[in-house]
This record gives sequence, C-alpha cells and structure tokens, in this order.
Amino acid sequence: MNSDLDKPIKIGICGFGTVGGGTLALLQSNGDEISRRLGRNIQVSRIASRSIKISDFDESGIQVATDPFELISDSEVDIVIETLGGFDPAFEVVRQALLNGKHVVTANKALIAERGNELFSVAQDNGVTLSYESSVAGGIPIIKALREGLAANKINWLAGIINGTGNFILTEMADKQRQFDDVLQQAQELGYAEADPTFDVEGIDAAHKLTIMASIAFGIPLQFDKTYTEGISHIKPEDINYAAELGYRIKHLGIARLSDKGVEMRVHPTLISRKQLLANVDGVGNAVMVHGNAVGSTLYSGPGAGAAATASAVVADIIDIARAMEQGITTPIVPALGYRTIHQDLKVVDIEDIESEYYLRIPAKDVVGVMAKISNILQECGISIEAVIQKEVSSDSVPIVILTHRAVEKQMNSAISAIEQLQDIVGTITRIRVETLTENSEA
Ligand code: HSE
Repeated sequence: MNSDLDKPIKIGICGFGTVGGGTLALLQSNGDEISRRLGRNIQVSRIASRSIKISDFDESGIQVATDPFELISDSEVDIVIETLGGFDPAFEVVRQALLNGKHVVTANKALIAERGNELFSVAQDNGVTLSYESSVAGGIPIIKALREGLAANKINWLAGIINGTGNFILTEMADKQRQFDDVLQQAQELGYAEADPTFDVEGIDAAHKLTIMASIAFGIPLQFDKTYTEGISHIKPEDINYAAELGYRIKHLGIARLSDKGVEMRVHPTLISRKQLLANVDGVGNAVMVHGNAVGSTLYSGPGAGAAATASAVVADIIDIARAMEQGITTPIVPALGYRTIHQDLKVVDIEDIESEYYLRIPAKDVVGVMAKISNILQECGISIEAVIQKEVSSDSVPIVILTHRAVEKQMNSAISAIEQLQDIVGTITRIRVETLTENSEA
C-alpha cells in the first residue's frame, strides 16, 4: 500500500465567490461522508482570493492569500480548484497549474468552451486531469452521463435547458404574466445571473455549455465560435400566451444534433409541446434530454445554478481525481472529451441549412386579403401552414400567429423578408423555432 494514503489530499481553491465558497462549505459539512466514500480525507489547505477578509481564516488552518500563481506553485497542493471565472487570469492559472503537474477542477464554462482544446492538450502532455463537470448544468452530472454512462451509444441529439436565469425569467413571465426586465432584476438579486446578465439572456452562457456538451456527445473539438446563439430578450408575454393556446411552452434550449449534413449546435428560444417533460422544468431548474441510438431518450434534471448544487459537481470531480490518485493512476482513464479519437473535420451545419418547424407572429393591418398574401409567400417558399391564430384587437393592427410545418431555415428567412415588405405589415416578425424532440434521430 502507498503510505501517502494516510495523508489528506490537499486542495487549493483559486477564487472564492459563490462556487469557491460553496466548495469549501460542502467539503467541510460533508467531510465525514466523503472520507468514508474515499477512504481518505480531503483538506482545503490554501485559498487565493482578492475579495475575502484574510483574518476570517485565522483559526481555520487554511493559508489565505491573494495571488493564485503562488497557490499553484505550492508543492503541497494536489488539486487546484479554479473558480475565478473569465479568462484573465483564469487561463494562465489553469495552464500553469497543469504545467506544474497539478490536477485541476474548473467550474469555468467560458474557459472550457473557448480555450478547452489548448488546455486539455496541456493536461494530456503533463499526465494530469482537467475536470469540468460543474461547468455545465450546475449540479446535474451530465458530463459523466455523456462521457461514461452513455459511452456505448452513438448520440443522435441532445436538447437542454442549460441556463437557470433564462428559465426562471421565462417561467415567471408565463406563470405570473410578469415583464422581462422585472424578472431579470429578481434573478440578479437571487444570485442566479452571471456578473454580466447579458450572458444569460442573450444565450452566451448557454452556448458555452452547449458547445461543451456537443463536443463530448459527438467527439468533436470545442467550437464555440460555430455555435448559433440567440437570446430571449425579444420574447414577449403575448408569444408565451399564443404558444400556450397552441399547446406549447417556450423554453430557451441548447440543441446539438447529428444529421446527414453534419453537427448542429444552436441555442435559441424554442416552442416545445407542453406534454414534454422538458417543457415542465421550471424556475432556475436545468434539464438535458439525450437521445442515444441504443438507449433511446434519457432525461437529466436538477438545479443548474447555486452554491451548493455547483459545489456538488466540483466535489464529485475532486473525488474522481482522488480515487485515481489512490490507485496510483496519473493519466486520466476517461479522455477529456470522452473520445480517444476526435473527429477533426465533422462539419458544423450553418443555421441557414437547418430544418425546423416555425412559430411566426406577424403584426399586420386589419385589412381584407392580408392573410392570403402571407399564405402565398409561404407557399412560394415551399412552406406549408399547420395552424393559424388571428386575434381581434381594438387598434387597426392584428397579430397573425402561424405555426408552419418543417422547412429549411433559409427558405423561412426568404419568406420572412418578403412578408415584412408587404404594405400591410406594420413591424418586424417574431420567429421562434419549434422542436418535436421525438424518439428518432431528429431533435
Ligand atoms: N448564470 C448561470 C445560470 C449560472 O443562470 O444558469 C450557472 O452557470
């Protein structure tokens, strides 16, 4: 037996905000249970943060300082936890820690989605692990499910609610008829939102997470710049109400799908049938549906944000690394993106080439013949109509709401610009994609 097993595994935490603080709290509160699982203690020995009061830790036995580079050079630290967020100094902190032979656990989805290819390569070259379970969907172990639990499958598609703030906003708008700005402010007060909340509402946070899931679902490099990203700030309460009349709910989904054209990676508001389990995941909750060719549809749901939930995923990564260390294993057993061979040249499908059904809300003058003109344009673009709602309103404009059958996005774009040029149309058209999330390979 290795005599090191009697010694605790030492952790250094860089950044001490919601996730860093939650990680220390969880390691302390569940310390006995974790030691019983592991057969060894885990001890936080150092914290690097510029925003904490060092004297608060005087009695703790934890060495606290401001410089993360000092922490990652400490030969006593076995595993570095990066919860600084952003790129600077997080990228260099992680890179240097890996070069110093430290295992690293990060909660930083932007860092993994945008710089992960470089960092995984550094980790591999140095025989250490870079783990990132907490970077996607908070406490839900979706990385483990995709990389390990579903490893026997060819993944056909996945679709997820992966931003808690956005889901909270859409849920409050739907249930309480509240306005977007008002709910966003509450989400910020509750601590769900990113430091810059446009990351949540414009879909960037979700696109980071979707990029990561797509890479491990299909074994492709991380390609954040090719992920189509659309936010929810243009969704109006009336869209939520019309969707409900048609039997749908609007959710902000990240969708990754393998088709004969390549891989689709897209984040946008989406109408899904209210009968779908995913449609009923409310509030700050996250959920990801994954369809594998052997297993069929699977669903993973839980809290996508918050200190304890995110720390649950960080600590699970620590335990995985600690178990490998205990066995004397240095090189990670599971490849960083779940595949030993990465498809370097699988095409990412341009958003113009995807196929979807569509919801359109068209602001039109209340005049004879306008519906006929709209139908003609749709027909000329090869798009057939599934349902129409036309509302009586007191002013001289009426919203015409149309659900279409499946069409190619570029045909829909042509139809929308032609309809917007009609004299009887009095504003821009709201277009929301509709997904069926069926059992077959089409999301
Ligand atoms: N701002 C993120 C969210 C936090 O709302 O989901 C977790 O990544």
